[in-house]
Amino acid sequence: MMINNLRLQNFRNYQDVTIKFMPGINILMGDNGQGKTNIIEGIYYLLTGKSYRVQREQELLHWDQSEFHLFGDFLMAHHKVSLESHYKDKRKIVKVNQVPCQRLSDFVGTINVIFFSPDDLVMIKGGPSERRRFLDLHIAQMRPGHVSLLNSYNKVLQQKSALLKSFAAKSLKYSQLQLWNEQIIKYGQNIIRNRVELTKRLQSVADNIYGNLSSQKEKLKVTYMALGNKNIDEAISKFPQLLDDKLEQEIDRQMVLVGPHRDDVQILLNDKPARLYASQGQQRSIVLCLKLAELELIRQEKEEYPILLLDDVLSELDRFRRDYLMNFIESSRIQTLITMTSAEIHLESGTLYFVEKGHIRREQ
Ligand SMILES: Nc1ncnc2c1ncn2[C@@H]1O[C@H](COP(=O)(O)OP(=O)(O)O)[C@@H](O)[C@H]1O
Ligand SMILES: [Mg+2]
Repeated sequence: MMINNLRLQNFRNYQDVTIKFMPGINILMGDNGQGKTNIIEGIYYLLTGKSYRVQREQELLHWDQSEFHLFGDFLMAHHKVSLESHYKDKRKIVKVNQVPCQRLSDFVGTINVIFFSPDDLVMIKGGPSERRRFLDLHIAQMRPGHVSLLNSYNKVLQQKSALLKSFAAKSLKYSQLQLWNEQIIKYGQNIIRNRVELTKRLQSVADNIYGNLSSQKEKLKVTYMALGNKNIDEAISKFPQLLDDKLEQEIDRQMVLVGPHRDDVQILLNDKPARLYASQGQQRSIVLCLKLAELELIRQEKEEYPILLLDDVLSELDRFRRDYLMNFIESSRIQTLITMTSAEIHLESGTLYFVEKGHIRREQ
């Protein structure tokens, strides 16, 4: 998969810019604050309907503007797709091949993208929600139904939380809570199954990649913990009982304590929790490994690599890991956009773009 053209209108610090990208490596070079990340963000937004930096589209609007437009032409092995995202008056309109799309999930996942920045270290250092987010973002690209599943589940969570709060005022019955628990199980077990499936597939390819990254010295193990349990069938069969057991505690704390919204992914390096024991360098290797594993899984399923967006990651990796990553990209012919502030790598091939104050110039 690749992006051929991108046009940004009134998006961040771009008024109206069109960029033609090339197959293989595309380097966006420029000083800080010139608009490199904004380009990456534009592509990510076009493909996923979301920014990874902000919640509200309002912040993506060029100063004082009321609408922005993003256009992208994409190529897949056997066909072309054009995508358009138009944000105006707090509404967004998405078009695929000029035809308006009813729901966001109709187009997300058509063209896949993997984004990697130094902030991804939170997958290791941060709390469980970061690791769940990592899984959910990947699943959402591959199985559009996952987004509506999460939305339905979150609505049920909100309803149940509201009920638990009103319970404190002793105005409601247990039976009403039971009804919400049934919904929690219904949606929750499917969320768990999707996440477990992805985690197992990640583990199957990450094992080999991490072996290479550590010169076969270290072993990475990634396991989804469903309701605190490594065994998924057991976790799901005990789900109703667990909800019953915690009911009093939930009423007491006015919080939903049981369900996949509290699950975690256990990441072990040589059998020890990576969050606590792995060095900064090892943690970076794990993130790199998981990103490469994601690329590989998408290729296995779609028979094409996704587009890879690397925002400021090269300077964070040591020579060995950087070479490993660049070799992987070059030998797999993955179209990659890389931002950097100075010539950080020596490349045999690739196209160079200079980014300065919202203007882009391609090196001739
Ligand atoms: N909504 C916006 N409208 C106009 N300019 C913006 C907006 N948001 C950010 N910017 C500008 O974009 C620049 C940062 O762009 P960014 O792509 O993050 O830089 P970098 O090249 O360091 O990756 C800053 O100069 C900032 O002022
Ligand atoms: Mg940047």
